[in-house]
Amino acid sequence: MALGGLPVGPTVTGVLSLDDVCLDGRTVLLRVDVNSPLNPETMEFMDDRRFTEFLSTLEALSSSKVVIISHQSRPGYLDFTSTEPHSVLLSSLIGRPVGFVSDVCGEDAISAIKGMDDGDVLFLDNVRKHEEEISMKRASPEEMANSEIVRNLSAVIDAYVTDAFATAHRSSPSLTGFAGEVPCIAGRLMKKEINALRTAVFDPPRPYVVILGGIKCDDSLRVALNLIEKGTVDRIAMVGVVGNLMLWADGTDIGATNRDFVRESLGDSFEETWEMAEELISNHHNLLFLPTDLAVESVGKRVPMSVSDLPTEFPIYDIGIETMMNLRPLIMGAGCLLWNGPPSYFEKSEFAYGTIEIMNMFVEAPGVTIVGGGHTSALFNQRGKAGEVHHNSTGGGAVLCMLSGDRMPVFEALESSKEKFTPLLSALGLSPRES
Ligand code: 3PG
Repeated sequence: MALGGLPVGPTVTGVLSLDDVCLDGRTVLLRVDVNSPLNPETMEFMDDRRFTEFLSTLEALSSSKVVIISHQSRPGYLDFTSTEPHSVLLSSLIGRPVGFVSDVCGEDAISAIKGMDDGDVLFLDNVRKHEEEISMKRASPEEMANSEIVRNLSAVIDAYVTDAFATAHRSSPSLTGFAGEVPCIAGRLMKKEINALRTAVFDPPRPYVVILGGIKCDDSLRVALNLIEKGTVDRIAMVGVVGNLMLWADGTDIGATNRDFVRESLGDSFEETWEMAEELISNHHNLLFLPTDLAVESVGKRVPMSVSDLPTEFPIYDIGIETMMNLRPLIMGAGCLLWNGPPSYFEKSEFAYGTIEIMNMFVEAPGVTIVGGGHTSALFNQRGKAGEVHHNSTGGGAVLCMLSGDRMPVFEALESSKEKFTPLLSALGLSPRES
């Protein structure tokens, strides 16, 4: 479904695109975000959408040597894996070999890149295995340019292309560090996402209802506060781990197991996130929708529980039926709906109800529907409903940040690279041929 009926926002003009440069015969570093949901028991991919969505960029680079770099999850998480399985999946999707090197930017990676021929595709290992990618999140452009990742890789590439829209709200050497070193170019997926979401944020039809779930409480609460400050949101439903945190901040004892889970998943961001939760509860309670009932897992079974019966020693894995019923009028009455992050641990079938129920309401809803978040949009794919929403983004946190008007470091890096390299493209032999 197209974004029919919506006013058309500005298109991407401030960045270099694949139409502005000729990369045939060149070595290109392609930053993608194929961070994908993995089945916690089998570690198999639960969704390949973040792969299929960047294939048009790969196609446009079919006469280049393409070195792919991505992250998968975060260090310390169960799904923080090598990207070797990603190279295998990509190879099966494109029907040709994809090399893999178990290195990010050391000697093995550099010599593998130097040995490539036109048309070759090589996957580097999970970039978050390199400590700079984690430790340099707040580094200046100069410090990034001096990182090993940027120094070593920019010495063997001619250009950098990014389709990592889903990580465009982050800053790190592999995401923003190449801006001043080589021409940085927006890939096809990056352009498609920016155009679709700019259209969707351009005067969204009211009431504007946002459903925030999943585990990334820090991102979700920051976005909630931004949207409230801008006065663009009418109601924010908080479910999943975000909902548990908000119930806790609202004075409900969610039990030690659930408190510990929230604390551990937030790590160093806990204090800052807790302050945001308190501010939302104290000053904006009227805009919030919180669960009134839940489901916990006890001896492997789903057990319904009212919020008024908390605390519980068991993990909260889903919202309850009353909460789903109360969400319905909110969803059906919205002019614009944004959903990011599941309300439940839906990989466990007994706890999938909340997520599936919201998905069903979403596809029925008459308003403009935007879905973000790896897990949430993966579910729409798996159930064959991806085409039944207005925009099914590959981004989660990135969508939230963009829609709430946050800084997008990857867009800024693309813009500054365009400014620096546009006058140099012909000297670098990268100008597109006259057709
Ligand atoms: C995502 O899935 O939202 C992106 O891959 C970003 O992941 P991050 O929140 O771990 O940076």
